[in-house]
Amino acid sequence: MKLTTYCFSPTGTSRQNMMAVVKGLGIEDVAHRDLTLCDSDSFSFTLHSSLDVVIFSAPVYGGKVAPTALARMEQVRGEDTPAILLVTYGNRNFEQALSQLADFVCERGFRPIASAALVGEHSYSNATYPIAVGRPDATDLASAEEFGKRIATKLNTQEGVRQINVAEEMPRLETPESSLLAFRAFVQEYTRQQQENPVKVYPSASKEACTHCGKCVTLCPTQAITLGKEEVSDPMRCIRCCACVKGCPSGARTFLSPFAKPLSENFQIRREPLYLL
Ligand SMILES: Cc1cc2nc3c(=O)[nH]c(=O)nc-3n(C[C@H](O)[C@H](O)[C@H](O)COP(=O)(O)O)c2cc1C
Ligand code: SF4
Ligand code: SF4
Repeated sequence: MKLTTYCFSPTGTSRQNMMAVVKGLGIEDVAHRDLTLCDSDSFSFTLHSSLDVVIFSAPVYGGKVAPTALARMEQVRGEDTPAILLVTYGNRNFEQALSQLADFVCERGFRPIASAALVGEHSYSNATYPIAVGRPDATDLASAEEFGKRIATKLNTQEGVRQINVAEEMPRLETPESSLLAFRAFVQEYTRQQQENPVKVYPSASKEACTHCGKCVTLCPTQAITLGKEEVSDPMRCIRCCACVKGCPSGARTFLSPFAKPLSENFQIRREPLYLL
């Protein structure tokens, strides 16, 4: 059995979670196709046979799969190939992301056999507004590894591998009513303000703190930062993934997302990973 993984992970949490599942699966023949950086040669057409197993792993953006991830998975095809679907979200909610990913892979010839909604530190988390700091932690990774082991058992059953129905069978998250209402009120007010006076904010770097080391340029998945002009982000390219913010060794790059405060205030309760197989 051959395992291929397709992963988009600007701040690394989707990759960490996926690697724990891979460890649990225990398959020796593994090819990792990382879709995070622009210079990747992994976006080309690839056809997988029904004897392969494929993992698709991506973060949740706005309750859906990060659009850049889907764009980079566009060329992958299966022939009734078993697929494991993993999304990682920042402790708020994953909403349609998993069912969207399931539809996407089914349209391309895959057969979903397992799915998981895993938790990662929120891309917008910072010292003032912490959101799921340090996730996935050791408990998350042990749980993801155990899930990988259970998938391995399923793949080795004699009866054949059952296809899952993600839209109907995936467990859903409960959010306390007060958090839901407070967050919705924030989003409504923010949307109203944006309609009246659209102001989009992007990560930027302090001139004083930036050493022009160029690390953010190499970490950016969409080539939105230019060497020598690291203080700014190209608004036409930036997807606000925060890879540059979290990866800046000098702490020079910051992103003051207006969502950080309401997310931190309303989604402190620890979410646990959810699984379906
Ligand atoms: C633009 C954007 C939108 C996001 N939307 C959500 C969301 O709807 N729900 C949520 O819980 N987390 C959301 N997050 C947080 C990420 O899903 C989370 O931090 C994830 O761990 C990032 O994955 P990565 O480390 O692979 O980049 C969002 C992050 C970004 C950058
Ligand atoms: S990683 Fe930080 S210090 Fe290095 S160039 Fe980018 S903003 Fe400047
Ligand atoms: S400039 Fe934008 S797209 Fe590039 S790493 Fe920073 S947040 Fe992500």
